[in-house]
Amino acid sequence: MDNQQLQGLVEQMTLEEKIAQLLQLTAHFHEGTDNKGQVTGPMEEMGITEGVVTASGSILGLSGAQAVIDVQQAYLSKSRLGIPLLFMADVIHGFKTIFPIPLAIGCSWDMELAEKSAEIAAKESAVSGIHVTFAPMVDLVRDPRWGRVMETTGEDPYLNSLFARAFVRGYQGDNLKENPDRLAACVKHFAAYGAPEGGRDYNTVNMSERNLREQYLPAYKAALDEGCEMVMTSFNTVDGIPATGNEKLTRGILRDEWGFDGVVISDWASIREMIAHGAAEDDCEAAYRAIRAGVDIEMMTPCYVNQLPKLIESGRVDEALIDEAVLRILRLKDKLGLFENPLRAADPEREREVVFCEEHRNVSHELASKSSVLLKNNGILPLGPDANVALIGPFAQSNDILGWWSCVGAKEDAVQLGTSLQERLSGGKLAISEGCGIDSISQEQIHAALETARSADVIVLALGEESAMSGEGGSRTNIRLPEAQLELVKQLKTLGKPLAAVIFNGRPLDLHGIFEEADAVLEAWFPGSEGGAAIADILVGRVNPSARLTMSFPQSVGQVPVYYNHYNTGRPMNPQKTEERYVSKYIDSPNDPLLPFGFGLSYTTFEYSDLTISGHEMKAEEQLTVQVKVTNTGSREGVETVQLYIRDVAGEVVRPMRELKGFEKLLLAPGETGTATFTITEELLRYHHSDLSFTSDPGTFQVFVGSNSRDTLEQSFKLV
Ligand code: BGC
Repeated sequence: MDNQQLQGLVEQMTLEEKIAQLLQLTAHFHEGTDNKGQVTGPMEEMGITEGVVTASGSILGLSGAQAVIDVQQAYLSKSRLGIPLLFMADVIHGFKTIFPIPLAIGCSWDMELAEKSAEIAAKESAVSGIHVTFAPMVDLVRDPRWGRVMETTGEDPYLNSLFARAFVRGYQGDNLKENPDRLAACVKHFAAYGAPEGGRDYNTVNMSERNLREQYLPAYKAALDEGCEMVMTSFNTVDGIPATGNEKLTRGILRDEWGFDGVVISDWASIREMIAHGAAEDDCEAAYRAIRAGVDIEMMTPCYVNQLPKLIESGRVDEALIDEAVLRILRLKDKLGLFENPLRAADPEREREVVFCEEHRNVSHELASKSSVLLKNNGILPLGPDANVALIGPFAQSNDILGWWSCVGAKEDAVQLGTSLQERLSGGKLAISEGCGIDSISQEQIHAALETARSADVIVLALGEESAMSGEGGSRTNIRLPEAQLELVKQLKTLGKPLAAVIFNGRPLDLHGIFEEADAVLEAWFPGSEGGAAIADILVGRVNPSARLTMSFPQSVGQVPVYYNHYNTGRPMNPQKTEERYVSKYIDSPNDPLLPFGFGLSYTTFEYSDLTISGHEMKAEEQLTVQVKVTNTGSREGVETVQLYIRDVAGEVVRPMRELKGFEKLLLAPGETGTATFTITEELLRYHHSDLSFTSDPGTFQVFVGSNSRDTLEQSFKLV
């Protein structure tokens, strides 16, 4: 349909029908689903009638081809104008084939695989009836106490933006109508949800507009530049106003400045939550603020359906605002091809073939093996094929490795580490012992673990957080491994045997009690459906680890937030004079994180040399070429991720110590030398000034190239 036809449709709709399009409820409210009959309570509580539910425009969280077909058909049989329902769901890192958590995917620095994972997630969801995914989540994060760091790709605006684009491409493809195996994407949570004070979920976000624009907005914008169809507002306030009713943010920046004309949806109940925030006295005021801010769909609360009719009648809200919102929603339905084919890709037969098929699981396996970060290794990894191994810990045979947002992924389908390691140690021996629970330990468990370990040559500890310890509502103040697990480490240390630790979790941890104690540490994150197999591949050396952290690991929680692109301060600490008092430092901790952004080891080693720059002066219209040689000095083939950072030495506003501006992956055979090449343009040097203009300043720039944000070679040039 063209715009005029869609407009014509809006004109035929009654006010009630239009407002119902703006409501999104879970499937439980709808006829045709199993839960029908249990909904009287919630409907009454919401003050909505069955008529409203029947007319509402979209459903959240229902999947399964047949279930969706039933609900869509029942809905359309009652729809006066034949406007189909939209089905949306949280497909965050896979539908049933679960990929590593996004923070892990981030560590792959692999846009192609990230895109592929989204494409697969889209296909599985689409054949199961879903039209829209509430992804990608691109919130920039600096505080590992926040449980939702697992859902994002990390602390860097540049890398997050690349991933935002890759995910949107993967979900949406080129044409949603012609390719019903793709989904419309919904970038979230607009804006700055990843910066809650104290790392406590839903908490206040307080920052300058300049910082917002410089660090937090780029990834949302990147998703939209890639054509992302929807935006979800966030729960938090931005400069004192809840994002869901924030006219400056959603109407001003998003719609007027960036020209976004797609659908904006509130987060779950976030319109009504404006009352708790203290930004609206009642539902009526909340509805007023949200519709004026340009929020089209209200998720799970009834402020719009109950209050908008009154607001229009009293003249406070212009009906044109409703018409605009409805038009956007209908346009999305049209783009998805739903008017022609309301069942879209939903197909029980294809669902059986496609969902969780081997091809998809293979991609998950590959991505998991490229997302696990080797944090330490004094040479005990990889394990030899004849190794005699004791695998000990609560994750030795756990299937809780999918992570908090694993959609319809089933834990029972997850490949466990113990099973996979057993398969790979053909000539060796493997004995397994649980050692302790996630958060509990008994004398019997310790005894059994020590017995198991005694007869082994090497101990592999499988430790971590259970999935409920991160994710939404999963903030922690203590980000160490649980005491019980640290106790297990202590006990096993008494045996004096080589010890490798694999850690399954959803956030950068404070690794006290394990990092020093272990000879090797592998960060597995929540690696997804094929996690056990991928981790076992790394442990035995079938795969050479290549992943790099995209979020710093703090020394302790007291350092948080600690991130690589920080400012220098007027009193930076001189690392050679750490005893100086009146400088910016802690008296009981280093300033630097334990492990910096970009860090990750390989089973081989790389040496950097000959960093060259094509000139030491550059005019705005010119460009410079930076090159570095990288040699594989070890004995295995390996992938090195060569990273380029720039520092603007003096700006109108202070500039970060380093900012990632590019990276290149080199696959090098033992002894081989490769060259990484980067181009510096004036555009790379721009930043937001105090008047919010986005320009560069002439002056000196430092260029750093290396294997992470800390260990680099250096050059410099002047922009003249
Ligand atoms: C989360 C969103 C999610 C929504 C719908 C909210 O609680 O913040 O990320 O998309 O629920 O499930």
